[in-house]
Amino acid sequence: MKKKLIAGNWKMNGSLAANETLVKSLLAGMGTPACQVALCVPSVYLAQLQALVAGSAIGLGAQDVSAHDVGAFTGEVSGAMLREFDVRYTLVGHSERRQYHGETDAVVASKAQRALACGLTPIVCVGETLAEREAGKTEEVVKRQLAAVIHANGHCISEIVVAYEPVWAIGTGKTATTEQAQQVHAVLRSQLHAASNQADRIHILYGGSMNAANAAQLLAQPDIDGGLVGGASLKVPDFL
Ligand code: 13P
Repeated sequence: MKKKLIAGNWKMNGSLAANETLVKSLLAGMGTPACQVALCVPSVYLAQLQALVAGSAIGLGAQDVSAHDVGAFTGEVSGAMLREFDVRYTLVGHSERRQYHGETDAVVASKAQRALACGLTPIVCVGETLAEREAGKTEEVVKRQLAAVIHANGHCISEIVVAYEPVWAIGTGKTATTEQAQQVHAVLRSQLHAASNQADRIHILYGGSMNAANAAQLLAQPDIDGGLVGGASLKVPDFL
């Protein structure tokens, strides 16, 4: 069985001093983790984190990657640049980027494609809003979001990580019930199976108010292969 993957998404939090304290405390408390661990940090801190996590069990992650290779794209960071800092993972299509930066399914698919081309593992985020859930459109929305990425990436699809993050559960303290989460994960798993004979290798993470109190129950579900943790990843005991 594959190891669970627990990824922290720091979002726009941190400082040089706070990062050092946080990562050193995590490393001290972590021992040899039973799961895979990643931290997705603001890009300005990648060099700092590269040094802090070198040789440890923590894999470095970015929060976004450009859909472009190189050139006149002010403010963007390319996959090749991320690789120079030993970055292994990058989030793509986080709902905050879809919502505040207008990222479409097509843009997210291109970003996943660029990440794979650069040797990065894209953590592709999908998830419905509260209005979409209430309208009975959860399955339709997450399948549409994932289909765009599958279509653009063909046989490479087994190299991605998927994160199911219901938008209404992010930062709200409202976690999806284990049944709600498992149900959507099963839908995503069967969609991946239809696209690849290696779909069992793919980690499907749950994200949205995952914390120390609810993680074990969520992670016990058959199709929940890990977590994408926001707020709780900034607190050492909770993340540990
Ligand atoms: P919270 O864990 O703070 O709800 O954030 C989830 C998330 O968006 C992780 O990417």
